[in-house]
Amino acid sequence: MIVNVTPKIPTIEVQDLGRRPTSKFDISALLFLMKQSCKKNFIEIGTWYGKTTYEIAIKFPEKSIFTMDYIGEDLVLDPASNRALIKNKDDLCKFAHHLPNVHFIYANSHTYNFNKFKNLLYEIPDFFFIDGDHSFDGVKIDTEKAIAFLKKNGGGKIAWHDIHTKNLTQVPDYMQYLSKTEDIYYIKDTNIGFMNVKGK
Ligand SMILES: C[S@@+](CC[C@H](N)C(=O)[O-])C[C@H]1O[C@@H](n2cnc3c(N)ncnc32)[C@H](O)[C@@H]1O
Repeated sequence: MIVNVTPKIPTIEVQDLGRRPTSKFDISALLFLMKQSCKKNFIEIGTWYGKTTYEIAIKFPEKSIFTMDYIGEDLVLDPASNRALIKNKDDLCKFAHHLPNVHFIYANSHTYNFNKFKNLLYEIPDFFFIDGDHSFDGVKIDTEKAIAFLKKNGGGKIAWHDIHTKNLTQVPDYMQYLSKTEDIYYIKDTNIGFMNVKGK
């Protein structure tokens, strides 16, 4: 089921880092969700230049902010995502690299073994922000991996970006598909949806 929610979210001002796909309203919603339920650490799938990573990391200096991106011919992306791809590997995460709590992981999220976090003990994430491959199959793989990880590791939250984006219709399509088996929450006036995952 999809449930529309209207929490009172204070809008934060974001740094002027140029064009950003994730608006200040979306970032405010993410920060609000994190304040509520990110007790451990945060992982973002889809870093891009690290503009959202930066905003999250400076607001939560006590948390480890993992962020993952990848450039590779094996990426199968929808056309809109393809246009936005960064060509130069060194530009990935360039706005957030310098922050001490940011850990950039250069990896394909579809094949990455998230169990690696278990070796880091206290740095296990309990909050996934999925904003990587926006194809139906891509967001499905990332979501299923995040759900499996959270179930095994005490539970947590998953947030998605682009649940309403007009030229990325496969994300809303996947949300509809997932909502047949899970409760999904859409935060009003934002492009952010989320779900809660219980630990086993
Ligand atoms: C829309 S951008 C992310 C924007 C960023 N979250 C922000 O708010 O500024 C999507 C990014 O996901 C990355 N991406 C796509 N598929 C991926 C995959 N399978 N593994 C890792 N990163 C991926 C792309 O390279 C691209 O940089």
